[in-house]
Amino acid sequence: MFPEYRPRRLRQTDKLRAMVRETTVSKDDLIYPLFVAPGKGYKQEIGSMPGVYQMSVDNIVKEAKEAFDLGLPAVLLFGLPEKKDSRGSHAWIKSGVVQKAIEAIKKEVPELVVITDVCLCEYTAHGHCGIVIKEKGKKDKFRIENDATLELLQKVALSHARAGADMVAPSDMMDGRVGAIREALDENGFENVPIMSYAVKYASSFYGPFRDAAECAPQFGDRRSYQMDIANRREALREATLDMEEGADILMVKPGMPYLDIISLLRQEFILPIAAYQVSGEYSMIKAAAQNGWLSEELILFESLISFKRAGADLIITYFAKDFAKKFS
Ligand code: PBG
Repeated sequence: MFPEYRPRRLRQTDKLRAMVRETTVSKDDLIYPLFVAPGKGYKQEIGSMPGVYQMSVDNIVKEAKEAFDLGLPAVLLFGLPEKKDSRGSHAWIKSGVVQKAIEAIKKEVPELVVITDVCLCEYTAHGHCGIVIKEKGKKDKFRIENDATLELLQKVALSHARAGADMVAPSDMMDGRVGAIREALDENGFENVPIMSYAVKYASSFYGPFRDAAECAPQFGDRRSYQMDIANRREALREATLDMEEGADILMVKPGMPYLDIISLLRQEFILPIAAYQVSGEYSMIKAAAQNGWLSEELILFESLISFKRAGADLIITYFAKDFAKKFS
């Protein structure tokens, strides 16, 4: 018996395929991450992330302008502070690198949406995302003070909003941070600044290259006491529910490609917009394979981004944002 219905019929030409395509990805969906460093005229490529740079504010502004001119809607800023200390105080000072970058970008390209990463790990000498209490006499024994950290995160978010950030994105994974940040923003007249929460952030090894880029590898221990267990799925619903109840406007899943099932799960269960973060390790893997001639960067880039959309993501944070905008517009 030959089949009556032949799905292949609709695959015969480019036009036909395009007419019945179920998902699309466009540059309007993309958020471009940038690493802001101190100094002037500074631009240093990150060894494990070819094509990604640490840049001083003057160069960040140029990069932001280029991104905007290519039609990208938003950037996400990470800071490499001048000084690190145990509390990460350079994360909230008015003259901090991110605060300066926000002001400068908003002056030069006011329509570009400036989102900021709110976390302490790039600013603390120990590289953890919260206040660390070391247990005396026990090497590598420590705990993170959740509630004391919330107060510092409030200061960071507020300092970004004061500098002109359009949206803040807490990535620390302390419990209660979204509510704490929402409260601080509201009390200070920033009730219109949305929060994109790194709601479901796994304790992943795919962040390796980022820790070179942002110089924030933990000096002892790891982040498993605050980031999610990579084996858990139901817990993602719990994290996302809490963040929504605390006032998150966008829920993010991170990393991206290894966690497409989680994006899909959240899409089914939540009405909020969902963002996927294609993290540093995903970028480096694709770049490395492409540089060896083992994969086509262009085709893999498209396939990886469309997979996020197919899984149900509305937004994608990707280091490939500019490449995509150049190649597929
Ligand atoms: C900081 C933060 C990290 C990333 C984004 N924000 C690193 C981490 O949690 O260790 C990773 C992004 C990437 O790998 O591209 N908390």
